[in-house]
Amino acid sequence: MLNTRFIVDSSLTTRRAGTEDPKKRSVAEALYSGKRAKNNWIDVASEPDYPLNPDKTPAIFQHRRAAIQRTEFDVYVSLGPGDGLQDLSLLIPEPKVAQAQRRLRPPKTYIPIDISKELLQTTVRNLGTHLPIPFAVQCDFESNLEFATSTVAQATSGKKLYSILGGTIANFDLEHGPFLRSLLRELQGEGEALAFVDFPLAGPAWSLQSEPRLQPSGYSPAFRRFILHASAVANTEPNGRQIRESRFASKFTFEHSSQPRSGAEIIRVINDIGMVVLEFRRFRENVLIDWLKHTGFTIEHFASSISSNRDLFGMAIALLKA
Ligand SMILES: C[S@@+](CC[C@H](N)C(=O)[O-])C[C@H]1O[C@@H](n2cnc3c(N)ncnc32)[C@H](O)[C@@H]1O
Repeated sequence: MLNTRFIVDSSLTTRRAGTEDPKKRSVAEALYSGKRAKNNWIDVASEPDYPLNPDKTPAIFQHRRAAIQRTEFDVYVSLGPGDGLQDLSLLIPEPKVAQAQRRLRPPKTYIPIDISKELLQTTVRNLGTHLPIPFAVQCDFESNLEFATSTVAQATSGKKLYSILGGTIANFDLEHGPFLRSLLRELQGEGEALAFVDFPLAGPAWSLQSEPRLQPSGYSPAFRRFILHASAVANTEPNGRQIRESRFASKFTFEHSSQPRSGAEIIRVINDIGMVVLEFRRFRENVLIDWLKHTGFTIEHFASSISSNRDLFGMAIALLKA
């Protein structure tokens, strides 16, 4: 595949082999790994109503481009690229994007890192003709970030930018705070490096009543298939593949909690054996900024798509210096 080497963290397979309790499996793996899960995710991300559809929310794309436009880096490391198209539109914008919003020079190297072999292959296919991708890394960066960063450090040179886009940080199984702190530690060991993260926001008008993800009706058919399949895989249900979308409402419950320190409103999708299949976090902008200052990163750039007191949701983009 376009001369890209695939480097796999062997602890992924050891972990799978040793797992008897399905609750201990990585939910990220159930959500994104395997051909069917990959196709389900691409269906979700291709829906016209997907919040990161560039036609729906151009402000988010403008903020991302503005953040990296004058930023120096040689290596762009994508933690969780999905199908890679969000990175592509940032690094090699379509012709309709104004010249003033373009970066002068694309990175010398692009490295995708993902738990899903299939999404890595899709990313390499989508970006490999535009950017040099010497290798791709398959690992669980929530549980073995060190594998990801040390592989990149050994095999590349120059200043690195680690991106986590698409609200991925808001879906982690683990807490986002410890993850960002370990990212900071790893990046400090690498010399000059940056983290580029987007954070879904709860806008000023957000309330529990206005939160669609607390109701079955807040999930599109594609999103239901994505969650149902992951739940079946993580649950090791023998007939998981046959579960129909119509069972979605009876199979899952939806819970909310708040984390005042980081400003996160957390929504959990829980299946019928009590497993959290997916979490969404929506951050409160002002609390998030204060909290980011306490992570130890320096905030180089911060922009939010929220523009009115009537906004329910938004997306913040932060460029953080290690
Ligand atoms: C919400 S999708 C976002 C994809 C892409 N950034 C976008 O904006 O469309 C999350 C991505 O991160 C990957 N991912 C999630 N958790 C992961 C983990 N713990 N380790 C490695 N990859 C993970 C998924 O496989 C998927 O590609």
